Amino acid sequence: MINVAVLGYGTVGSGIYDVLVKNNESISKKVGDDIRVKYVLDLREFPNDPVNEVLVHDFEVIINDPEVDIIAEAMGGLEPAHTFAVRTLEAGKNYCTSNKELVAKYGPELLALAKQKNKNFLFEASVGGGIPIIRPLNQSLTADEITEITGILNGTTNFILTKMDKEGLAFDTVLKEAQELGYAEKDPTADVEGYDACRKIAILSSLAYGLHVNFEDIYTEGITKITDVDFKYAGKLGLSIKLFGKSKKVDGKCYAMVAPFMISTDSPLYCVNDVLNAILVNGEVIGDIMFYGSGAGKYPTASAVVADIVDEAKHLNRHIMSIWSSEKLELEDIKSNKCKFFVRVAGNEAEKLAEVEAAFGKVTIVKLDDVNDEFAFVTEIITEADYEAAAQKVSDIKQRIRVEA
Ligand code: HSE
Repeated sequence: MINVAVLGYGTVGSGIYDVLVKNNESISKKVGDDIRVKYVLDLREFPNDPVNEVLVHDFEVIINDPEVDIIAEAMGGLEPAHTFAVRTLEAGKNYCTSNKELVAKYGPELLALAKQKNKNFLFEASVGGGIPIIRPLNQSLTADEITEITGILNGTTNFILTKMDKEGLAFDTVLKEAQELGYAEKDPTADVEGYDACRKIAILSSLAYGLHVNFEDIYTEGITKITDVDFKYAGKLGLSIKLFGKSKKVDGKCYAMVAPFMISTDSPLYCVNDVLNAILVNGEVIGDIMFYGSGAGKYPTASAVVADIVDEAKHLNRHIMSIWSSEKLELEDIKSNKCKFFVRVAGNEAEKLAEVEAAFGKVTIVKLDDVNDEFAFVTEIITEADYEAAAQKVSDIKQRIRVEA
């Protein structure tokens, strides 16, 4: 018998409990031993819920029970999750989590502790919800040198951008709808400002490159400044706009950023719509591969946590290696990163063309039929620094969006 404790009975925690109860027979068969949820920890009461039979309010009950082998956390936030993770591993138990804040900040420390104790710290659900991406990076792609990761890593912003694109709506209107539907939090800052995607690309990059990518070092730009007019231009150019978490290695240098990008229909990420997520990985040996699916939600996320529980149950006393050193990966300043830029300028194109071309070189003007007093163009591939220098020379730039096309 393998005993599991679930920390937190919110959306994800209750999903983990449900899946472990409902699919108990098949999961136990896959593990080769019976799996049982012995405890669920939550401060609240759930009087008419079967979880009552295993509900506890004190972590000490769980940590001091020698029968508990695996603790699965779905509480979110840094504390008490960090303390619980350390105490779990110190006590010689296995820990798994869907908590990206915890993993992005303490991933290398907790992996090192797990290794020292010959236990496991697994976190498949921390990035991409139900999409398998951590395990593929750790196990399936080990023959390869990963050169680039581009992810649509946040369902809330992808839902908002998709609606803006397909229905021509403004950001604020769609955000309100997303909040009403429960896709966006009451305080949507972490999603719309890109902080959530930032932690996720930090985790993926750390695993892909083997060194610690500090999420605080990643240039992060959200989607709050993207407008319905930007989408009109994008449509005219045959492009869409997506929020990317991106990292890449160029000549041994590593760049990472979170920002909205215009992308073409040729990109495999173009068709990733609504709340869905996808991660496009490029490896020197394998080329491009894409992982696609539900990046959030009760059961998709629970599915990934339960898969970690199964893996830990199969390796109760054997550490599964993953390379994520605590040594910091020094990211390059994005100023030397290159891409095209979409630029909107206020004013009359005939009057401003000379100013624009003196700064950016020859450009092709794009105009919208129903929007006067402004025009747009797309630059050649240039560095961020060159863009900044050229943009200084043009008055009244209304918008700039990076273009991956
Ligand atoms: N707020 C996140 C999202 C939840 O929208 O993707 C999953 O991490």
